[in-house]
Amino acid sequence: MNVKIRDASFDGVFPYHKAGLSQFAFAGRSNVGKSSLINRLVNRKSLVRTSKVPGKTRAVNFFRVDLVDLPSIYLVDMPGYGYSKVPKSMSYEWIDLITKYLSGNQELKLVLLLVDIRRDLESEEHMIIDLMGKTSSKVLMVATKTDKLPYSQRLKRISELSGQSGFSPVITSSHTGDGMGELWTHILESIHG
Ligand code: GTP
Ligand code: MG
Repeated sequence: MNVKIRDASFDGVFPYHKAGLSQFAFAGRSNVGKSSLINRLVNRKSLVRTSKVPGKTRAVNFFRVDLVDLPSIYLVDMPGYGYSKVPKSMSYEWIDLITKYLSGNQELKLVLLLVDIRRDLESEEHMIIDLMGKTSSKVLMVATKTDKLPYSQRLKRISELSGQSGFSPVITSSHTGDGMGELWTHILESIHG
């Protein structure tokens, strides 16, 4: 899908964003590549801060993306979970924050649930899938960092991940750009749905 981006900019932190734009949220374990994927989707190297150190994104951050000939949207960068050095209390805070953001949000069209292609699903991913099952927003599973595996192993991992989740993951890499067209297709299809 050929999407032209007119502009992309940071536009606030939940719950202080503006209403009226469809939201597409990027959720997943710390360091899975959420912020990198948003940058790659909009072709901006540093719209969103990324880091080798897990736990970089601590709030629900809204990035407004203005598209040519299409409605403007929000790409929403969520804080990562499962970062063991963060104190236990943070995980309650995290559950509370993401539950508030993800539940009953009519403008949230799609949650892109990112999973590192080399890792199995854990309780947090199942929690998000269960939580989203109670809402009208859809889930798209996205396998990240696929450049880290030889091609021969990718499909095997994808079928294992789909067995664990019931979703069939989109194969992506923010380093090579693989899968960006497919992600845009899903995003645009969900704007009205
Ligand atoms: P938190 O904000 O801590 O939740 O992390 P995040 O999910 O936003 O991850 P981020 O995008 O900051 O990326 C974490 C690290 O993974 C960085 O060092 C990235 O360069 C690297 N990374 C992200 N995407 C890819 C990818 O597709 N391939 C490879 N090889 N590395 C990647
Ligand atoms: Mg991040």
